[in-house]
Amino acid sequence: MTNNKKLLAWVEEVQALVKPDNVYWCDGSKEEYDKLMNVCVEANLATKLNEEKRPNSFLFRSDPSDVARVEARTYIASKKKEDAGPTNHWIDPDELKEIMTNELYDGCMKGRTLYVIPFSMGPIGSPIAKIGIEITDSPYVVTNMHIMTRVGTKVLEALGEDGDFIPCLHSVGKPLAEGETDEGKWPCAPMEKKYISHFPDDDMIWSFGSGYGGNALLGKKCLALRIASNMARKEGWMAEHMLILRMTNPEGRQYHIAGAFPSACGKTNLAMLQSTVPGWKVECVGDDIAWMKIGDDGRLYAINPEAGFFGVAPGTNYKTNPMAMESLKENSIFTNCVLTDDGDIWWEDMDEPCEHGIDWKGNEWTPESGENGAHPNARFTAPASQCPVICPDWEDPKGVPIDIFIFGGRRKSLVPLVSESFDWDHGVYMGATAASEVTAAALDVKSKIRRDPFAMLPFCGYNMGDYWQHWFKMGDRLGDKAPKAFYVNWFRRDKDGKFIWPGFGENSRVLKWMCERVDGKANAIETPIGMMPTVEDLDLEGLDISKEDMDELLKVDKSEWAAEMPEIGELFAKFGDKLPERMTAQLNKVKSRLS
Ligand code: OXD
Ligand code: MN
Repeated sequence: MTNNKKLLAWVEEVQALVKPDNVYWCDGSKEEYDKLMNVCVEANLATKLNEEKRPNSFLFRSDPSDVARVEARTYIASKKKEDAGPTNHWIDPDELKEIMTNELYDGCMKGRTLYVIPFSMGPIGSPIAKIGIEITDSPYVVTNMHIMTRVGTKVLEALGEDGDFIPCLHSVGKPLAEGETDEGKWPCAPMEKKYISHFPDDDMIWSFGSGYGGNALLGKKCLALRIASNMARKEGWMAEHMLILRMTNPEGRQYHIAGAFPSACGKTNLAMLQSTVPGWKVECVGDDIAWMKIGDDGRLYAINPEAGFFGVAPGTNYKTNPMAMESLKENSIFTNCVLTDDGDIWWEDMDEPCEHGIDWKGNEWTPESGENGAHPNARFTAPASQCPVICPDWEDPKGVPIDIFIFGGRRKSLVPLVSESFDWDHGVYMGATAASEVTAAALDVKSKIRRDPFAMLPFCGYNMGDYWQHWFKMGDRLGDKAPKAFYVNWFRRDKDGKFIWPGFGENSRVLKWMCERVDGKANAIETPIGMMPTVEDLDLEGLDISKEDMDELLKVDKSEWAAEMPEIGELFAKFGDKLPERMTAQLNKVKSRLS
């Protein structure tokens, strides 16, 4: 086990509070994974898939009320309210601790096993990695953490007697009475009892009431983004909601790209893209999170702190993302997908249609049922090592040197295919003003456009004004070694609502232009919103796209852009005196270029 005093004391303290029937320390072994999956199958919480179709893989169905991250129940409980800032939900940490301790955690694991999961975000021993310990009463969480992080004894060894860790306490919030079982029902608590709480002053996470994804796999959004972003500010590094990829040109020169896109903008697809430009290769380092530190040579090095992909399943197929499909062929966990009659899984827009199966709610389903078979946020959990295009050195503790940052979102109009920032500060402005369309069903927002600065709106663990200031400071430290910044939009539509740009693998053409810009080899023209390629500057060889369409994709309409400015002004105004002066200066510059 361990002789780490802080850890032993914490487990003892939690045990006394939550009163589990048993305590189990996870060793991270394959035997442990198999044993826990058996527990889930026997409790009717999981279905083992057909071994020939999908070896060593399992399907879970969650409670219909517990299907996604719950932003409205997610809290940043800093001592000072202003440290959480206007984009986060804040509660006084003492008040929150009292509610959660006395009303929720007390006795919440009765009838259950308390699992202690030692995990490392990042390759064990990497100077960029961090150790967390998750306590949970969910075997689903343990098995998912096995795939998503590095788990077990090796982490305890790295922790040693005096090492520090981030405590992450999780409970599904459904104690069992004497003799009661889950009876095949996914355990969770009602919405008003769900709390996804972050205590940035203690570097600590308390999650209660949800067993799903980012609410429960605490290494991901809670630790690797919310808590880590705050630690990164204090310690002078960066924790970002970014994919990481490597592009290699025909001469073997490597470029590393980190890209921030809001949820549901194709981050996983871009991270595993198959280049259509002859001789140019793309490989994946990570699809969701990047931790970055300045190395001895002054460049910015990134690691993927995760070890797996927790991807949205519907829409993933051999056309949109063949490499993801290959990654989830075996040893994977599926949540809220359709169970087919031959014991495999299915979701909307998979390559082959499904005629009949059991839907995510456990009911019989056919295409005529009139409802989706898989939940729109159904997920696959797959080991990153199974991705055919994972970089051979993706676990290099040193990380990869970043050359390019990409920001973007989903915009039908206005935003061109690609533009490059004039300098670092302008790049920070681009990241801060990133925006994406939301579907009416997703969020109750008046505007159809959600401003999602750096794709961090739900994930920045402190005041976003201070976060922007941190970006400016990082730029000062990086100086001429700073990555170049670009803004992209793959989602422009024509008058009939059809996508103009083919996207997916063809995005490599845009990435190629960026790489050549890094080397000073590609041309660009100055526009009010940034440097842009002309049609001739992009490698469109072999692509069937008209000159008019390309003109539309590369158009900058000054008056339409000017019309966006008041909304950006409103966004910035929310931050009061936390808004960096350099951000105001950027806004003024853009305005004057547009006038
Ligand atoms: C995710 C998200 O699940 O960003 O990665 O919502
Ligand atoms: Mn994400």
